[in-house]
Amino acid sequence: MGRFSGRTAIVTGAAGGIGEEYAKALAAEGAKVVVADVNDEQGARVAQEIAAAGGEAVYQHTDVSDPASANACAERAVAEFGSLDLLVNNAAIFGGMKLDFLITVPWDYYEKFMSVNLNGQLLMVRACWEKMAAVGGGAIVNQSSTAAWLYSGFYGLAKVGVNGLTQQLATELGGSNIRVNAIAPGPIDTEANRTTTPQSIVQDMVDKLPLKRMGRPEDLVGMLLFLLSDEASWITGQIFNVDGGQIIRS
Ligand SMILES: NC(=O)c1ccc[n+]([C@@H]2O[C@H](COP(=O)([O-])OP(=O)(O)OC[C@H]3O[C@@H](n4cnc5c(N)ncnc54)[C@H](O)[C@@H]3O)[C@@H](O)[C@H]2O)c1
Repeated sequence: MGRFSGRTAIVTGAAGGIGEEYAKALAAEGAKVVVADVNDEQGARVAQEIAAAGGEAVYQHTDVSDPASANACAERAVAEFGSLDLLVNNAAIFGGMKLDFLITVPWDYYEKFMSVNLNGQLLMVRACWEKMAAVGGGAIVNQSSTAAWLYSGFYGLAKVGVNGLTQQLATELGGSNIRVNAIAPGPIDTEANRTTTPQSIVQDMVDKLPLKRMGRPEDLVGMLLFLLSDEASWITGQIFNVDGGQIIRS
């Protein structure tokens, strides 16, 4: 019996990196997990690895920017596991993203980026909330970033939006006993980060951290599990930095 026995969680962007860590941590605590991603091969691998470790998981191809796909994901959770209680909105265009400026990024790329990184979180909540309300409530964690507080162009702008979405949705969904919080990680050592963020920028960030190392996906897990658990039952609309102290300017 784990902390989330009898509960069903959707984790988006769970085919690798931080989302994979989140999905495996929830499954290890007894949750039944829907691994939702556009990367079918890696998503199926994560679900299989959870099952091999004795947990329960299915993979569902999910494009969070597509309302029909988001709805199908929520339907799959209930069809497979009988209820939907928890949503982790982690998916984003991050690994391999275009590095450009707000004033020059091609408009169709910008629109696609926002449709995934910001609107995708809202679409998943729209797809899930009534199913959570039907079982008496639930909890949602949105993945933000300390990029929301730093210069980081359209990537950070989407995360500012995520922070606002978290606060607005907490207000709209509180009456249905659904809590909505966000985690804002500092620099986390994932393959996506290694291949996307120039090393000089990462090194500069780490040098300025009070805790002088990159974060690891497992550094975020404690906060995720806490926010999804009943221990956090009177916490909603908050953005929690898990960032080695990056919020302190030096
Ligand atoms: N790594 C970091 O330093 C860091 C720091 C702060 C916040 N974050 C955030 O954490 C999350 C995960 O980051 P990561 O480092 O693991 O990166 P990642 O690129 O490995 O993870 C993103 C996942 O989202 C999936 N995805 C992309 N588009 C999708 C779509 N339309 N529908 C569904 N899934 C889609 C990708 O396939 C991938 O599995 C992201 O939201 C990112 O912005 C990362």
